[in-house]
Amino acid sequence: MIIDGKPLELPTFVGSEGEVGIDIATLRNKTGCITLDPGYGNTGACKSAITFIDGEKGILQYRGYDIAELAQKSTFVETAYLLIYGELPTAAELEGFSGLLTQNQMLHEDMHFHFDAFPPSAHPMSILSAMIHASSSYPSPQTAGKTLKEAFPFHAARLISQVRTIATSSFRKAHGLPASYPKTKLKYTENFLHMMFSLPGEEYEINPEIVRALDLIFLLHADHEQNCSTSTVRMVASSQANVFASASAGVCALWGPLHGGANQAVLEMLEEIHREGDDGTKFLNEVKNKTGNRRLMGFGHRVYKNFDPRAVIIKEQCDKVLGQLHKSDPLLDIAKKLEEIALHDEYFVSRKLYPNVDFYSGIIMRAIGIPMDMFTVMFAIGRMPGWVANYKEVMDDRDSRISRPRQIYTGETLRTYKPMSERA
Ligand code: CMC
Repeated sequence: MIIDGKPLELPTFVGSEGEVGIDIATLRNKTGCITLDPGYGNTGACKSAITFIDGEKGILQYRGYDIAELAQKSTFVETAYLLIYGELPTAAELEGFSGLLTQNQMLHEDMHFHFDAFPPSAHPMSILSAMIHASSSYPSPQTAGKTLKEAFPFHAARLISQVRTIATSSFRKAHGLPASYPKTKLKYTENFLHMMFSLPGEEYEINPEIVRALDLIFLLHADHEQNCSTSTVRMVASSQANVFASASAGVCALWGPLHGGANQAVLEMLEEIHREGDDGTKFLNEVKNKTGNRRLMGFGHRVYKNFDPRAVIIKEQCDKVLGQLHKSDPLLDIAKKLEEIALHDEYFVSRKLYPNVDFYSGIIMRAIGIPMDMFTVMFAIGRMPGWVANYKEVMDDRDSRISRPRQIYTGETLRTYKPMSERA
């Protein structure tokens, strides 16, 4: 690299999959310059051993295991363990981890007062982030007297388990339904469905196919390297804030429609197209003409430039679930039509825009009966192990420094204060 006419040599760092990073840690000291990369498209903010993505080839691996293989053979809980602790669990380790999830599934009873304080119109994502944060104020006997490191497995279990309980409690509160409590005999995803849909005197009937589909959705969302919410979690963790504060910040970052909020935005878009009697053609023309800055929600990704492997698995699952439930959905027909047109349209092809994980996941959740404003909450439940694993990686890294990017200032240069009488 040549800066101000002087050659500059910078070291490189090569990852285990051959990715090369130019190490600019000494750049400012040596040259006075910083790098400028809005949106961080070319910036590696950390080294991480959790998830590998090759966006050009459509590869996604958790701890070295291909996502398609995990989707076929693993479960959400086993995958959560893998992400956090780095290896697939032995039978005893899985039993211990599942036991911890069960022991931590119940909210402190006083937390129910917080739910009552939210208006019925509150979005479940705002309740979720507030309640995750609030739960850190309720001490657990399991962590009493322990250092942060010793307490970590209990905190991790509590977050992964209680995110489900908080999510279902916020749904029930919003819909005026009586609170429901987890059942020890039920597994993770079964328990979620029970807490969402069981009514007094009317137990939700567990359908293994629905459980499998939802477990798969959680698993496919479990981690995705340095996305907006995970980077937020790592940034908060870098200040040595606790894991609850860090995860709660992750929920806030996830909420936006360009990130986790896209699954709700996709369904809203499909409903609008359906309501207007459009088959998708008019809508796509508006997107291409950038009318009102419209976007085809559920399409495009910062990293995947060929296909999103999660979308391929979800699309297959979507057909399966609707088939098993003997449901047809006009929104699915519109989604398929949009996909078919977009995949052959110069606008989308030239910009390498393909369906992402959110394009079909909403249709499955709708078929299961999950309301639209809970879609992003479902993403948050799935992503919790990834956030926890990334938090742990920051905490375990002896060289970790507080995240503090720089900027290039574009405002006014130094000027003197004008008294009020001289201001125009
Ligand atoms: N529909 C129409 N045009 C698009 C879309 C889209 N969904 N996505 C990108 N573009 C266009 C964009 O207008 C720009 O065009 P031009 O070069 O003419 O200005 C070009 O493609 C590059 O877009 P970008 O905004 O610079 O790309 P990005 O990498 O910053 O954004 C994205 C990635 C995912 C935010 C974006 O593709 C998007 O807004 N997609 C829709 C929202 C969505 O589905 N988000 C979920 C992502 S997957 C879940 C997750 O991990 O969060």
